[in-house]
Amino acid sequence: MSKRSYNIAVIPGDGTGPEVVNEGIKVMDAAAAKFGFSLNYQHFDFGGDRYLRTGETLPDSALTELKKFDSIFLGAIGHPDVKPGILEVGILLKSRFALDQYINLRPVKLYPGVETPLKDKGPDDIDFVVIRENTGGIYTGVGGAVQVGTPYEVATQVMIYSRAVVDRCIRYAYEYTRKRNRRKLLTLVHKCNVLTHAGDLWVRAHKEMGDSEYPDVKQDYNHVDACNMWLVKSPEFYDVIVTENLFGDIITDLGAIIQGGLGIAAGGNINPEGVSMFEPMGGSAPKYRGKNVINPLAAICAGGMMLDTLGEENAAKAIDKSVTDILSSGRIKSLAAGKMGMGTREVGDLVAKGV
Ligand code: IPM
Ligand code: MN
Repeated sequence: MSKRSYNIAVIPGDGTGPEVVNEGIKVMDAAAAKFGFSLNYQHFDFGGDRYLRTGETLPDSALTELKKFDSIFLGAIGHPDVKPGILEVGILLKSRFALDQYINLRPVKLYPGVETPLKDKGPDDIDFVVIRENTGGIYTGVGGAVQVGTPYEVATQVMIYSRAVVDRCIRYAYEYTRKRNRRKLLTLVHKCNVLTHAGDLWVRAHKEMGDSEYPDVKQDYNHVDACNMWLVKSPEFYDVIVTENLFGDIITDLGAIIQGGLGIAAGGNINPEGVSMFEPMGGSAPKYRGKNVINPLAAICAGGMMLDTLGEENAAKAIDKSVTDILSSGRIKSLAAGKMGMGTREVGDLVAKGV
């Protein structure tokens, strides 16, 4: 049951983040007006500029604050004057862990009218969802280094998973596959032929839960290296993929490029029982900042995902339909920044009007 009035924390972030966030909000507001609910936004200035000013990325007090919201809408993180890694770890990864956003949801959908680098593939072939485990594995940072800088340096970083963390991710994936109700096929991606401990845990969790609780969902398994090949050769094989954190990070970039690139790729960091965060996959693109040339569609789609997760499914569908209509009309010349044939705000206006 949706509650019809939502408090949204907005983190526009760096570079073109604020511009795309504005268009996402424009479109969500249009959907809210049409479907009779309200969205209340509160902006936060976390990002590169604040870090350079104060040395703070995402302070603990901010996390306490963010937990009070229904959802978080993020623009982009990344600043040319900040060493790579600081903002990613300090803001993005910190919120994933602190808010226990254990699902990274990445729909890979080729909209009609959008070019894919895959020869002879169209919208019917590229339409699947990757569910990436988002708080475990190598990303936990478990490990260490000794004798750093000497010839005897040793470094480890462990792919750590508990059964509970695997199970909750796989359960989300089965539920999602059932609800999506397409081919009802849940493919586990891992590397169990080599990662015999960690892989085996995932394989058993996937099979046991599927056999006992989701007999209506078909099960499949791919090694991650082979999955990379199939994603290029036969993306139509896939309906829903579930995988561990690092493998998911890698295959979702492949997913983004086959759906037309970062201009359209959106993702959600989801805590199904808590506060989730939605974002366009593209970076902060500092050279395009303030020029009204960046493509806001990924942020708009992220907004749609946010509304869907909040329970406003009809609003989410309307946004998706508006994006589909505009892209299939051919009015947007290209998804690349500066080549759309119209500005950032104009794209937002069009989608909002079509909702
Ligand atoms: C992603 C990004 C992040 C990740 C980086 C920025 C830390 O690549 O969301 O996929 O590795 O998860
Ligand atoms: Mn990534």
